[in-house]
Amino acid sequence: MKIKFEVKKIKDIRAEVVTSVTFEDSSDQKLQWLNTLYKGSLEPLMETKDFKGSVNQTIVTYVGGETKSKRLQVLGLGNSKEISLEKLRIAYASASKKLNALKLTSVAFEIPDLSFIKSIINHSHSDILQAICEGVFLSQYTTKKYVSKNDFAPFDEIVFFTDSPKYTKEAADAVKNTRIISDAVLMARELENEPSNMLTPEKFAEFVKKSSVKAGYNVTVFDEKKIYQLNMGGVINVSKGSNNPPRFLILQYFGSNKSEKPYVLVGKGVTFDSGGISLKPAQGMEAMKMDMGGAAAVVGAFEAVSKLKLRVNLIGLIPAVENMPSGTAYKPGDVIKSYSGITIEIDNTDAEGRVILADALDYAANYKPKAVIDICTLTGAAIICFGHLLAGLMGNDSELKKKIFNAGEKTYERVWEMPLYDDYDKLMKSDVAEIKNTGPSRQAGTIMGGIFLKKFTGDKYPWAHLDIASVGFNVAESITEYQTPGATGYGVRLFVELLKNLSH
Ligand code: BES
Ligand code: MN
Ligand code: ZN
Repeated sequence: MKIKFEVKKIKDIRAEVVTSVTFEDSSDQKLQWLNTLYKGSLEPLMETKDFKGSVNQTIVTYVGGETKSKRLQVLGLGNSKEISLEKLRIAYASASKKLNALKLTSVAFEIPDLSFIKSIINHSHSDILQAICEGVFLSQYTTKKYVSKNDFAPFDEIVFFTDSPKYTKEAADAVKNTRIISDAVLMARELENEPSNMLTPEKFAEFVKKSSVKAGYNVTVFDEKKIYQLNMGGVINVSKGSNNPPRFLILQYFGSNKSEKPYVLVGKGVTFDSGGISLKPAQGMEAMKMDMGGAAAVVGAFEAVSKLKLRVNLIGLIPAVENMPSGTAYKPGDVIKSYSGITIEIDNTDAEGRVILADALDYAANYKPKAVIDICTLTGAAIICFGHLLAGLMGNDSELKKKIFNAGEKTYERVWEMPLYDDYDKLMKSDVAEIKNTGPSRQAGTIMGGIFLKKFTGDKYPWAHLDIASVGFNVAESITEYQTPGATGYGVRLFVELLKNLSH
């Protein structure tokens, strides 16, 4: 896909179609202006008054006069007073999908008056541009990798243009950077959507290793032998039921002084979660190929952060396992010992994510990190709580949580805080070990996940926990125009935004 930013007049843009945008409140003037420019081509449209510029409204028409593109799309952005970054993402994604339906692959999008939008929503020009470009780029993904005849033809040439030379430099940079970020999101989606027969823990590690070389970060992979040597009891036990051995990945990116302490991202990498001996029901089990959405978000963040060369030091920890039932599987009632030595009674083998994360959160302390953030498709209860709109946020550091919240509002990868009051601790008390891996059935399931992890982080470092079971993959009712069926790649944009703010 070729992507360009150009300062040009709309008639001088050469593409199969150019898209011009307008707010509802100035739609008449805009159509008039275009009509004059295109020598009366829009008269029938104006007569019918069919186009009002309402939000996401589009028309595609043919235009005459001295123009390099014969097709014109007009896109409505709705009432200018109600514009937001998310509305821009969705509007540009809707327009993109309309053009995909027409099989047009060389496209050009007008950038609206950034200063005007800034005066309403108080975000920087580059943030506004980022939202616009995200809408276009993120809508261009397809899950049809294993289908030979694919109807969907993504764009292969995209121009963003404006005839105003006011923000040339920042616009060119924003387009370039947003491409990096969006590519990372799409890589995360691709990893998540990959079936578990194609993406075992071993293959996952190989993929990340390969990809890291181009992106410019480092990866160390612990194989099962090394994992045994280190006594990572959580990872060992969860993976015991599977023929596919576990991996433990350590990603490293140094964008700042080597002496500066890193931030650590921890991602749950369950390449398939059958539930193990506490087997899940058949219905919906196929979605559990996406139980490594947290890990994919960490990889995506590394891809983007290293290509953007953010001035920050970053460690990524990914325990990758397959959770399967078999004669060698770990069982309810087992007592296991985590990497730190804390003993865990396994109440339910389907609460496996927290068990492997326990090892990783312990391991994170070795880096004396500035902060640790884990991200995981941890509890079905997060869906009960939030539907598919928000992720659960927990942790021990208000400042860190506030920063994550703000990054969530901006990227629209939103989070909502849940409490980790100590009063919940007793619900996970075990008679035979230091903690159980589940609380009482149907009580605060998402919080119980956080309470369990808190046992391993303690106050060793500032920590935040993101339960993304609710947003890792989508369902028809809540899918937005820039998302695609299946995986969302949630977390990549959130992390990049957060780390941009934490870097210097
Ligand atoms: N991977 C699941 C959580 C999940 C469920 C993610 C639905 C996405 C959609 C996790 O490992 C799990 O099975 N959690 C259990 C925990 C329970 C046994 C305490 C759950 O949510 O039922
Ligand atoms: Mn599970
Ligand atoms: Zn799981």
